Amino acid sequence: MIQTNRFDLTPREEIDAMSTVNKAGLEDVVVSTSDICFIDGREGRLIYRGYDVDDLAAQSTFEEVVYLLWYGALPTKKEYDAFYKTLSATATRKLPPKLVALLAKKTTPMEVLRTGVSALSAFDPDDPDNSREAEIRKAMRLTAQMPTLVAAWERIRRGKAPIAPNPKLNLAANFLYMMSGKKPTELAAKTFDVALILHADHEFNASTFAARVTAATLSDMYSAITSAIGALKGPLHGGANEQVMIMVDKIKDPAKAETWIRKAIADKARIMGFGHRVYRVEDPRAKHLRRLAAELGRQAGDESKVKILNTVARVMTEEKHIYPNVDLYSGAGYAAMGIPTDQFTPIFAMSRVAGWAAHVLEQHGNNRLIRPRAEYTGATRATYVPISQR
Ligand code: COA
Repeated sequence: MIQTNRFDLTPREEIDAMSTVNKAGLEDVVVSTSDICFIDGREGRLIYRGYDVDDLAAQSTFEEVVYLLWYGALPTKKEYDAFYKTLSATATRKLPPKLVALLAKKTTPMEVLRTGVSALSAFDPDDPDNSREAEIRKAMRLTAQMPTLVAAWERIRRGKAPIAPNPKLNLAANFLYMMSGKKPTELAAKTFDVALILHADHEFNASTFAARVTAATLSDMYSAITSAIGALKGPLHGGANEQVMIMVDKIKDPAKAETWIRKAIADKARIMGFGHRVYRVEDPRAKHLRRLAAELGRQAGDESKVKILNTVARVMTEEKHIYPNVDLYSGAGYAAMGIPTDQFTPIFAMSRVAGWAAHVLEQHGNNRLIRPRAEYTGATRATYVPISQR
């Protein structure tokens, strides 16, 4: 067989000779190896660095999970204490005053977060340095500062002064404190911590892939995380948790949920908080969030949201065999804590930054530019006609 050099081929032949992925949306296409996260879509299992997320949700803390994702192993007590101390220090959490002054009032929280994270790079002393040590320091600042940014914006838009971070509180409790000015209940702090653990990573989802594509050009941590936030914002990805609460607010009364969802199914509507590209069964994170949202609802004296969601889930499962994903119950828990709906996706980002950063570190640790091809289906021999003759 005569070996053909690709440069001997016509452009059309060259494209034809390449492996073509005939899968819209890259469904089931494996694009890289990774040691960070594994999803068993048939069994409904999620694994971070070998550890089942069910075990982490029951026994770990968000700070420990961040360490696990970045360093690849659980920390010793000494490592954990040093890591925790830096991550929760006011110096790491606080925002540059010039950035706070930039926060405009008429923007959505996700836009504030995307622009704020991008702007934070200008204040980071490590910014041009892409060494692993510098990238971990940048990831640490971003993970610590994003909750401060989200909370500061919430206060500013309500006409209140931002609250300084409290280094005695862990990331979850401190965020709730900076939002309301009150120390959260133990249940709220624990629930929030578990929600952060459950959202911390999810393999090559759209926002993580966006982060890796950006990182693969040897761009920096801030650019990669900014790309990821932009991808997370959409309603088919992180934005779904906000849409779920909009649906719950429309249904209002648990007694009307069954009729509402049956009509929506008949109308062929896309129901947010359901379905997944990888899971063929219920998303393993949903059961934890369902339980926590129910507990918080009980404590807050409003169980109607979870009741509505349970009815919607039962009918979706019976009629469509489409199961709840991570976004179905998270918002009901956040709402019970008094968090406004448009802050749900920024909260998702506050957790997922841990995974995004782990993937940027992994990408930079063994980098090759990510640059696929398109199967061109347009015209090839169009004759240019001057504008005056068209
Ligand atoms: N509501 C109603 N139908 C749904 C659905 C949903 N949430 N999710 C999938 N389906 C149906 C589609 O209509 C389609 O049916 P068809 O084959 O009869 O046309 C089929 O299931 C496959 O859907 P498709 O959109 O091709 O799957 P996907 O893998 O491209 O999409 C999601 C995955 C997550 C984008 C999709 O399930 C969805 O839009 N869910 C709602 C948004 C959401 O909750 N996103 C957060 C994900 S964690």
